[in-house]
Amino acid sequence: MDMRVPFSGGTVGRRFLRRLFVMKVSPSVLACDFAHMADEIQKVTQGGADYIHLDVMDGNFVPNISFGPAVIKAIRPYTDVPFDVHLMVERPSRYFQDYLDAGADNITFHLEAEPYIAPALDQIRKAGCSASLSIKPGTEAEAVFPYLDKLYMVLVMTVEPGFGGQKLIPECLEKVKKIKAEAKRRGLKVLVEVDGGINSETAHEAAAAGVDVCVAGTGVFRAPDVAAAIKELQNA
Ligand code: DX5
Ligand code: ZN
Repeated sequence: MDMRVPFSGGTVGRRFLRRLFVMKVSPSVLACDFAHMADEIQKVTQGGADYIHLDVMDGNFVPNISFGPAVIKAIRPYTDVPFDVHLMVERPSRYFQDYLDAGADNITFHLEAEPYIAPALDQIRKAGCSASLSIKPGTEAEAVFPYLDKLYMVLVMTVEPGFGGQKLIPECLEKVKKIKAEAKRRGLKVLVEVDGGINSETAHEAAAAGVDVCVAGTGVFRAPDVAAAIKELQNA
């Protein structure tokens, strides 16, 4: 039987409550088998992914090169799950249109990479796409505060961006709490996403810090059972 727990002046079932507060999961295709990308996308779609995370790296803002808009456009028809595009590129606003055309539902760019942040966010929003900002481990949480009212998400990097399979830097989770508190104080609905080193062990710390969306590359795509790995993160 579903246990009753107090909620908002009445009681609700524990299962219902859990559905309300589950952490959303955005599997990062950086860790998938690039030779079978369409199959990999369908695997996480069937496994219950809430978003699909696409890491774009330019070999300049980060010391690695991944893929660009042509690849994103090619895999777009294989799923209806929203595309969460993470641009790790220098001066990202030069390329927004390419990612909008490729089918991005959310575009996240790095605060450290763009000199004109507010106009860049407006450019994305005017195109009917949600706009988000990301900060590297060395950037303070407060740096995003001036833009909070324009943001769908703040992506707090929990590793130095550039490579999958790194270990989570736990201190970065303090920033999640600060951003959530500031958004609450101002009555803004901004999601906080974390990216880097999230797996079934570290997801509990992320959930405890108030994370809304977790990105997981190796934690999902290299798991023996992709659907089970997604579910485990959602219930962390
Ligand atoms: C790192 C990327 C991440 C990466 C995460 O720069 O932004 O999205 O794919 O990989 P894992 O989950 O393996 O740490
Ligand atoms: Zn990412």
